[in-house]
Amino acid sequence: MDFAVITGVSRGLGESIAKQMMEQGTSVIGLSRSENKDLQSVANKHQVTYEHYTCDLSSENEVENVFSQIIDFIKEQKANNVYVVNNAGVVEPIQKVGDLPANEVVQHMHVNLIAPMLITNLFTKNCSEMEVTTVNITSGAANRAVYGWSTYGSSKAGVNYFTSTTALELEKNRSSHKIVAFSPGIMDTDMQADIRSASEEAFAEVDTFKEFKEQGKLRDTDVVAQAMLKLLQQDFENGSVYHVNDLLD
Ligand SMILES: NC(=O)c1ccc[n+]([C@@H]2O[C@H](COP(=O)([O-])OP(=O)(O)OC[C@H]3O[C@@H](n4cnc5c(N)ncnc54)[C@H](OP(=O)(O)O)[C@@H]3O)[C@@H](O)[C@H]2O)c1
Repeated sequence: MDFAVITGVSRGLGESIAKQMMEQGTSVIGLSRSENKDLQSVANKHQVTYEHYTCDLSSENEVENVFSQIIDFIKEQKANNVYVVNNAGVVEPIQKVGDLPANEVVQHMHVNLIAPMLITNLFTKNCSEMEVTTVNITSGAANRAVYGWSTYGSSKAGVNYFTSTTALELEKNRSSHKIVAFSPGIMDTDMQADIRSASEEAFAEVDTFKEFKEQGKLRDTDVVAQAMLKLLQQDFENGSVYHVNDLLD
């Protein structure tokens, strides 16, 4: 049996990835703080299993405890292929440096960067007998300075560096695990609503992002999830960053 462990399944891209994984016959273990009630019915329809774990990814202890339980469960199920999708993310705090609330910076780094690092560490340590493919959801903000996004750009740049370094180590150690980063482009989700609600003083590009919405330039998450699943079917380069535009039909 194949399993996908996906963070941030309550809405947005994570929900679309979870649905499409189940539609193609993969059982899903979903994590978020709030539960998505639709996913169980998708599982029933496609005769796969869906398990939800409530987890606040900003808590190191919760990440360690919940993922240890998930790894035990996957081992009991004798999984063949396991996909780990580190999708959950936050964009706040959107503020210029000097005005950053310390607690929000720490919380952000935990969700966007530290949790994916700890999760990958646990799977690498405990699942060497399985084929594990990890996908870290990144952003173009990792490569471009954006006024007001110092925290977000830093966490996503960290995700890219962690991905390439982990791949280097896995290859050197002849591991069967693979890891890749996927940049989804701009999507019509709650995160974009958060971005549009920032003040111009905090976020210099806010009007551009309002125009993206008005002009219909934000992609549907189902289209983006399809591109990500296509990536997994390819012989992708370990440790690289792939952009949605290069995977769309
Ligand atoms: N939207 C875009 O335009 C865009 C562009 C580039 C990259 N991305 C990236 O794509 C990914 C998905 O973004 P999205 O737009 O789908 O975001 P979204 O609609 O805001 O959904 C975020 C998901 O992350 C979960 N999450 C947030 N904080 C969490 C926490 N402390 N613990 C556990 N789960 C948490 C949320 O679940 P709960 O609130 O229920 O916990 C939710 O399921 C993110 O990594 C984002 O950085 C998005």
